[in-house]
Amino acid sequence: MVVDDDALVRRTLVHVLKAQGLDVVEASNGREALALLEESGELPLIVSDLYMPEMDGITFLREVHRRWPDIAVIMLTGVAEVSTAVECLQVGASDYLAKPVMVDEVRARVDNALERRRLTLENRFLQQSYQERLEASIRELDQRNKEQFVGQIQMAVRMLEKKDVYTRGHSQRVSRYAVKTAVLLGFSGETLDQIRLGGELHDIGKIGTRDAVLQKPGPLTASEFEEMKKHVTEGEEILEPLRRHHPLVLQIVRNHHERVDGSGFPDGLRGEAIPMVARVVSVVDAFDAMTTNRSYSAPRPAGEAMDELRRFIGIQFDPEVVTAFSKAFPDVQKLPITV
Ligand SMILES: [Fe+2]
Repeated sequence: MVVDDDALVRRTLVHVLKAQGLDVVEASNGREALALLEESGELPLIVSDLYMPEMDGITFLREVHRRWPDIAVIMLTGVAEVSTAVECLQVGASDYLAKPVMVDEVRARVDNALERRRLTLENRFLQQSYQERLEASIRELDQRNKEQFVGQIQMAVRMLEKKDVYTRGHSQRVSRYAVKTAVLLGFSGETLDQIRLGGELHDIGKIGTRDAVLQKPGPLTASEFEEMKKHVTEGEEILEPLRRHHPLVLQIVRNHHERVDGSGFPDGLRGEAIPMVARVVSVVDAFDAMTTNRSYSAPRPAGEAMDELRRFIGIQFDPEVVTAFSKAFPDVQKLPITV
């Protein structure tokens, strides 16, 4: 685009630019030029005079630079106006031409300004696509890490299930019960993920419990019970590497045998001092233990187990959790769930 109130200069410039193979539009002042730009949108280059009626060149340049920063602007100045030329460059002009204009010089400056603009745009494009590629590979790496992590967790759970036939499916059921209950309690997102994981891993410490204790058909002696109790702290030790990113998983593992009356283990925590996520797993863990086959007892009907949970509200279980659990699984006929 050529902007100049002097028709002769304008005609000359248009002629030169056309000879360079460019499509040219012309305007006789800044206001007219802005109107044209608004209509046609972005274009690569403007050659504009500095002194024009209606809107002077500097105001016009400022406006163009603000709204279309990628347009290269060459300003036309008088011979002796070095300071004005500098001001133009500061405001964002690509270059300036001193009047009277020489055809060769116009050609060279225009070529130059267009080339610089092209390089700037190309560079920006390359940088953007580099940034995008980088982000994509980080996402992929993240995903792979996550998959690997889940794989390792599942391996640990399978190890425990090989050792203790009674826990087979128990971890998954507890996890599913816990997540659905937690949703009704208002948990979501990342917390829910940790509850899911904590449900799967809550008994992982039993890997260290002797088979004679784990699979004993009758009630445990006092010392055997002490040994069984260790699975919560040993589980926490096993999962220590998860503490930074999954602290709730460790709370579940450590505190899922606490009782709201403070008589549980390992910390004897009472009521709300027991982490909520552990209170959730405590309820659903007890329910699953009652309704599935155990070394020490035959399965009981789900309805009966649900009543038992209610009976121990305020003693062993949190009332809100028991309510949420029974709401999450209203149809006891369909319990226990199959995994
Ligand atoms: Fe347990």
